[in-house]
Amino acid sequence: MLTALAVAVPSASAAGRCGTHAWCDTRLSPDVRAERLLSALTPDERIELLAGDELTGVLGGDHTHTGTSNGVPRVGLPPVYFSDGPVGPRQGLSTAQPIPMGLAATFDPRLANLAGQIVAAEARGKGNDVVLAPTVNILRTPRWGRAFETYGEDPFLSGRLAVGWVQGAQSKGVIANVKHYAANNQEGVNPAADASRSGEPFGPPATEGNRLTVDVRADERTLREIYLPQFEAAVKQGRAGSIMCSYNRLNGQYACENEFLLRRVLQRDWGFKGFVLADYGAAKNTGDSLRNGLDFDPWPAIAYDPRAVRAALATGQATPAHVDEHVRRILRTLFAYGFFDRAAYRDDDRQINQAAHLRSVTRIEERAITLLRNRGSLPLDASRLRSIALIGVPANQFKTGSGSAAVRPFSYVTPREALARRAGPGVQVRYDDGSDAARAAALARGSDVAIVFAADHQTEFTDRNCLSLQCPPIHGDQDALIEQVAAANRRTIVVLETGGPVLTPWRERVDAIVEAWYPGMGGGTAIARVLFGDVDPGGRLPATFPAREADLPTAGDPEKYPGVAETVHYKEGVLVGYRWFDARRLQPAYPFGFGLSYTRFALRGLRVRATGPTSATASIEVVNTGERAGNAVPQLYLGLPSPGPGIVQPPRQLRGFRSLHLGRGRARRIAFPIGARALSYWDVRTRDWRVAPGCYEVTVAQSSRDAAAPRARLAVGGARCGNGAVRLA
Ligand code: BGC
Repeated sequence: MLTALAVAVPSASAAGRCGTHAWCDTRLSPDVRAERLLSALTPDERIELLAGDELTGVLGGDHTHTGTSNGVPRVGLPPVYFSDGPVGPRQGLSTAQPIPMGLAATFDPRLANLAGQIVAAEARGKGNDVVLAPTVNILRTPRWGRAFETYGEDPFLSGRLAVGWVQGAQSKGVIANVKHYAANNQEGVNPAADASRSGEPFGPPATEGNRLTVDVRADERTLREIYLPQFEAAVKQGRAGSIMCSYNRLNGQYACENEFLLRRVLQRDWGFKGFVLADYGAAKNTGDSLRNGLDFDPWPAIAYDPRAVRAALATGQATPAHVDEHVRRILRTLFAYGFFDRAAYRDDDRQINQAAHLRSVTRIEERAITLLRNRGSLPLDASRLRSIALIGVPANQFKTGSGSAAVRPFSYVTPREALARRAGPGVQVRYDDGSDAARAAALARGSDVAIVFAADHQTEFTDRNCLSLQCPPIHGDQDALIEQVAAANRRTIVVLETGGPVLTPWRERVDAIVEAWYPGMGGGTAIARVLFGDVDPGGRLPATFPAREADLPTAGDPEKYPGVAETVHYKEGVLVGYRWFDARRLQPAYPFGFGLSYTRFALRGLRVRATGPTSATASIEVVNTGERAGNAVPQLYLGLPSPGPGIVQPPRQLRGFRSLHLGRGRARRIAFPIGARALSYWDVRTRDWRVAPGCYEVTVAQSSRDAAAPRARLAVGGARCGNGAVRLA
């Protein structure tokens, strides 16, 4: 199927623009070329390269850029252009993709690769060299205003998707910028936000636990196991060219001057050779950032304003060698990613193949849509229907998140238009905006089936004040609307367009629930195709849907969230998302990894084979036992033994997954490699990864809570784990 998903690449001449300078010889390494160009720059030119030059591009207007570095015309160093972001370029109109949370629900790095290709092709078609994406922060609390921008609550899933996305984007000749490094997991709370959340695109700012100042206190194991692995994967496997440091502090130091994050982890441990740029306004202290590893301050470039840099040098807070180091990194990256050896990208939307991109993002959304409940109403059969009551404002609009990941779409089809078209002339589709629940219920009562569309609203700059559909209350009391419609028509289907988990108190009283996320500009079409069964809903949840907000790992303790006195303590440690629910034995409404299909799958014949002292392979047969073709997503979970007193291990952690399409009656055996890293925990004593001796539980499951899942045991380091355990030598 993937071969059919075309990506159009704007054309650019192969001719380079470097000229005949000593640094233009393409046979030399990027390091040598960077060194030569650096030595041709005056001290002032070097300093000027540390700061961005464009102020108004952040507004997202046509023919402006989210960021610009003017380069040095004297030596023919061209300007570098940057654009947001994770859902598409934020520069005039673009292809609006399904949100990253939806992309994560596909559990398919190939689709992440495709999404990255499309965003990059468009960023390039708008004249940009760097795209400020993907966002790979872990969803610590689903109340986060930027939940929609993330890949959910699991670092392994996020990492695999980030690698796919970055590789896809960079294959189009655009440098990816992985953000926001690190532990940027909340915007903060504004108790007044619900009433006044009109200030698009940024909404009213948070007053408690504000991301701009909050100090995250987290121990190293928690960081290494939960908040950093997806950045690590993007750097090491994805070969991302740049990283964006975040606004918040981590253990007392701002991220953009954080020695641990920038020097120890990124440079020393991961061997990152690209450059680090600051989130917009995140660089606070010139000297500290110069010394500790921030390379570029794009906007408003106050910390790296040339006067501030000169002052820092004059007062001995940093040295010219620090300046050189940052310029070298920027230049090296530009050489390594071909920036000098091609023509400048032209800013001209006509280079973008909008039709091809629309087809691709529609397919991605079809695979993202996650079926949470189905008592039989789905798929719809147009030949057996006479009337549909379509209820709720989100059915009749284009829905996406707000802030720097908002995209203004080239075009869109609403679910209402798409459903009416797909239902055909024989089916009456009557719409009610849901503003009067009794009226909507009456319409539902008189129709064969009722479909209620409900949405949350998420925006950068402020978290949601609660997890219900009423926070913020922009679409009225949607829970009450759903209850009343469900009471009026037994065949009520709820379609959610949310950026992440929400509360679903009515879930046992409706016939079906479909999570469509913010579906992108092809969303209407994709939703109609899934509801009518033209395609199988392919999605699985990348984040736990809790039954009660009080069950969240961050609930009930303001020190955990939103923080007290601008300090937030990650007391739950590694028990984030399903790890918390499993360890605490809490029953979620819908667990991580869960999603139904229109067919059924069985997992049979789990085989685990040792391949080395700290490695193994697990394989399983996936069988389509239902009546139609569909998408299966088998998931490998490992339960690690506790290596010592007080070292908590989550009951299970995702360590592998595969998304596959299986025809009716078809079966396929698939294998998951289990390497040393998959068996490891972060040992705080040695400050390294370690495989503990003991018994490991291996499960291949259809969700993180699949009671029927086949399991096996691995005995590591001579541990006795009972009959049937597979021993690693
Ligand atoms: C966001 C970044 C974004 C930047 C530029 C900031 O507010 O945190 O993700 O890239 O703005 O729009």
